[in-house]
Amino acid sequence: MILRSRRLRLTPQLRGLVRETTLEVADLIYPLFATAASGAPRAVSSMPGVSQWPVDQVAREAETTAQLGIPAVLLFGIPAAKDPAGSDAYAADGVVQRAVRAIKRAVPDLVVVTDVCLCEYTDHGHCGVLNGSSVKLTRPRLPEGYLLNDESVDLLGRIAVAQAEAGADVVAPSAMLDGMVAGIRSALDAAGFEHVPILSYSAKYASGFYGPFREAAGGAPKQGDRSSHQMDPANAREALKESALDVAEGADLLMVKPALPYLDVIRATRERYPDLPLAAYNVSGEYAMVKAAAAQGWLDEQRAVLEILTGIRRAGADLVITYHAKDAALWLGA
Ligand code: PBG
Repeated sequence: MILRSRRLRLTPQLRGLVRETTLEVADLIYPLFATAASGAPRAVSSMPGVSQWPVDQVAREAETTAQLGIPAVLLFGIPAAKDPAGSDAYAADGVVQRAVRAIKRAVPDLVVVTDVCLCEYTDHGHCGVLNGSSVKLTRPRLPEGYLLNDESVDLLGRIAVAQAEAGADVVAPSAMLDGMVAGIRSALDAAGFEHVPILSYSAKYASGFYGPFREAAGGAPKQGDRSSHQMDPANAREALKESALDVAEGADLLMVKPALPYLDVIRATRERYPDLPLAAYNVSGEYAMVKAAAAQGWLDEQRAVLEILTGIRRAGADLVITYHAKDAALWLGA
């Protein structure tokens, strides 16, 4: 006797016919790092295949990405100089704003998503301004070094507007500050950008898997960590609560980050918000892990990557933000 399910797997055609999950290039978003430094692209050693692109060359990489059929990039910036208030992040000629203009000029149809955060722009490396780090922001009743939530949210609004002015199609706030989505929404609307959607990093965990990103974007906190505003890996219900706040504040798309240790959170978010697009961020450490094992010959990279991306889709993500996007596009035969 042949099991019914096995009969359906007998040929590739039958397997294709009953496949429950699809993985297409159209589901992928490729992260890009733009640097204010000039010269040659700088390879990120802990992320083989990933580089920091000088602003005058980043459009070339964006073009390559688009030619592979990848519909969107997520843009991060490495500024020439950092300061306590992360001012390059919202300057009209800040590194990301210049990169967005260059990319939109070269590949107008490529969707440009911009990361809205301060951590790559502040000299202390935190995602907002700190009490006492700038004289006029000092609030004597709060401890020194305390992350000033509302002042930081105001700056995130300025970042989003500066990015939209440069041509960003979608803004993606990643700071996990209270009221962040509402603050950015009202800043965008007030500046005439009510058509620009917000992709909120709605469930962002305090994760060990961001390590290589710190090298890529140069954004490690000098002191302390982000556990006051990123979530405990042990919590799943809290992720739904965080997403609920972002939905109420006007988030157009949701995100779970990282992806692999949180597939259950992706599934739960998908079920709780069936009407909203959901992205999952397959982060730097998840990428580095696969690349390191593949380099040793311990994993079949293509097979492992496609299995990982399919698994993230199966868990319920519509979109996968992944450093594997270019390789996956080739393997998927776009
Ligand atoms: C914050 C931000 C981080 C990542 C994306 N946006 C760093 C952090 O949260 O500490 C990490 C992404 C990755 O590891 O690939 N701007």
